[in-house]
Amino acid sequence: MSDIPAIYPVPEDFAAKAAIGHGDYERLYAHSVRDPDAFWAQVAERLDWDRKPTRIRDVSFDLKDFHIRWYADGELNASVNCLDRHLTTRGDKTALVFEPDDPDAPAQNVTYRELHARVCRLGNALRNLGVRKGDRVTIYLPMIVDAAVAMLACARIGAIHSVVFGGFSPNSIADRVRDCRSKLVITADEGLRGSKAIPLKANVDAALKMPGTETVETVLVVRHTGGAVDMQMPRDRWFDAVVDSQPDTCEPERMNAEDPLFILYTSGSTGKPKGVLHTTGGYLVFVSYTHECAFDLKEDDVYWCTADVGWVTGHSYIVYGPLANGATALMFEGVPNYPDFSRFWQVIDKHKVTIFYTAPTAIRALMREGDGPVRKTSRASLRLLGSVGEPINPEAWRWYRDVVGDGRLPVIDTWWQTETGGIMISPIPGAIPAKPGSATKPFFGVQPAIVDANGVVLEGEAEGNLVMLDSWPGQMRTVYGDDQRFIDTYFKTYPGMYFSGDGCRRDADGYYWITGRVDDVINVSGHRIGTAEVESALVLHPKVAEAAVVGFPHDIKGQGIYAYVTLVAGEQESEALRKELVQQVRSEIGPTATPDYIQWAPGLPKTRSGKIMRRILRKIAENAPDQLGDTSTLADPSVVDSLVRQRRVPD
Ligand code: WTA
Repeated sequence: MSDIPAIYPVPEDFAAKAAIGHGDYERLYAHSVRDPDAFWAQVAERLDWDRKPTRIRDVSFDLKDFHIRWYADGELNASVNCLDRHLTTRGDKTALVFEPDDPDAPAQNVTYRELHARVCRLGNALRNLGVRKGDRVTIYLPMIVDAAVAMLACARIGAIHSVVFGGFSPNSIADRVRDCRSKLVITADEGLRGSKAIPLKANVDAALKMPGTETVETVLVVRHTGGAVDMQMPRDRWFDAVVDSQPDTCEPERMNAEDPLFILYTSGSTGKPKGVLHTTGGYLVFVSYTHECAFDLKEDDVYWCTADVGWVTGHSYIVYGPLANGATALMFEGVPNYPDFSRFWQVIDKHKVTIFYTAPTAIRALMREGDGPVRKTSRASLRLLGSVGEPINPEAWRWYRDVVGDGRLPVIDTWWQTETGGIMISPIPGAIPAKPGSATKPFFGVQPAIVDANGVVLEGEAEGNLVMLDSWPGQMRTVYGDDQRFIDTYFKTYPGMYFSGDGCRRDADGYYWITGRVDDVINVSGHRIGTAEVESALVLHPKVAEAAVVGFPHDIKGQGIYAYVTLVAGEQESEALRKELVQQVRSEIGPTATPDYIQWAPGLPKTRSGKIMRRILRKIAENAPDQLGDTSTLADPSVVDSLVRQRRVPD
């Protein structure tokens, strides 16, 4: 242990060139929270406003007068900020680099000028198809340039996009279309991942056969792989046929700062995924500012975030943040292990990537393959590494720094959420020494606190639940169509504060260590999955009486999904039924929700009032039967013994 450092100073050469260097952090942070109005007014000047905001922060977390508004009298258009304003100075600069799934297929460089024209053409086409300001458009696309074009075209005409991850099933698409009553869907014939074709258009067809999706008038289909699809006229239109002939300028819609920019569905502890709503001004200020500071962005950086645009990381740190900053961002359609485990590092060498941002699950999966696939590449272009999506274990952090970064690069572990819009706790790489496994310190203007179970704010070294004491411009504004659910989910547990759902520890140096979700959300490979969603998918099966789902520690994925299933009386347990249930979850939700293990449960541990005691199920799934705690309050304590006896014991 003794020769492994617990703290890594900022590399000297990095600090020397960093915009925010040694010693700057504490001073700037103190300034940022002393007068939030003045601070965020100044930060907002980084955007081009049609009407400059004079009202900056207008927030109350008080349930009697609840509201969150930022820059409320400002007007701007997000696509203009991501495109038009760069044309005079950066028109020929590459905005997006596209690296296809197949390494032998041609990569593409799309300049700001070209991207602007493509966005305008689609914006015009959408208007011609009757899409107006405030209408919802569902985007179900692979990681191709058209995904960014589609998002920005919606932003241009004031339509609200709802991107659905390409790994989701028809059912999940239908749920999301129904919830926001989408008028139009943009998809592709197929996507490609590790040479495997994903039938995107066929999934949309299946989704739109489901009740409640009749609001969709048009489906635009991008020709990507050239795979055969059914076109249902007049609903389905080829993207190129409708879009290519459009003029390449398009009048942007003038948006109020608080007009919605997008909805993104994410899992919570209860019920169906909720539509997280982000608005235009505050979100764009926050993602562009965090992107610049957290990544110490320079004009000639080639920045690569490996997330999918279907998640918030893709929204904030592939599309809106980087493009608002005039950066060059790489979009990769493929996977880290195709054609082999060197692919990430080969892409870095091929495109001279300088900033690399990925998830702990990918780092752990690549670490398992040993140093060889990394060492045979150069990676000399890199100057910064980032991590996001789940807690990173110190071992993976060190491998990332020492092997991928050859021990010479800073690593930033960035904590944030779909709800926060952008990075909240992270090292400022030139200013804050890193500790492996800690997201370190709050970003400027962000005011985290740790509370105990009663909501008492703990000072100094502490462990408890992570809350935010005040708002920040990138905060979600509501759950689409359900303001009450927004308030109930985030502001009722600890009145007057935003509750993140995460547990957290703060050490003697004031560093934050996120310990993971404290609610019924599981984080599988950085993807949020509500246990309730998996349970509902399981009980849809006619042979299932009841199901309870918990997370358990998993070497690669961070957490795995462990399901306890009680069958209807008289039904037989079998391997075939196990497979059927796994398949059922995959087709109801999508492959990301695949249960890792199903245990047959003759009964579930319940309190006398009928509430399932998940604490006990978690311990059994963790293979820690000696830590069950008090089971005497159970209605039938004997069910526990049988569950313990039949638990999965990892090899
Ligand atoms: C977890 C992804 C530890 C956390 C941007 C959070 C993290 C949830 C980190 C949000 C990190 C994200 N360290 N945990 N650096 N980043 N998380 O909405 O539990 O997909 O609440 O947003 O991921 O996941 P979401």
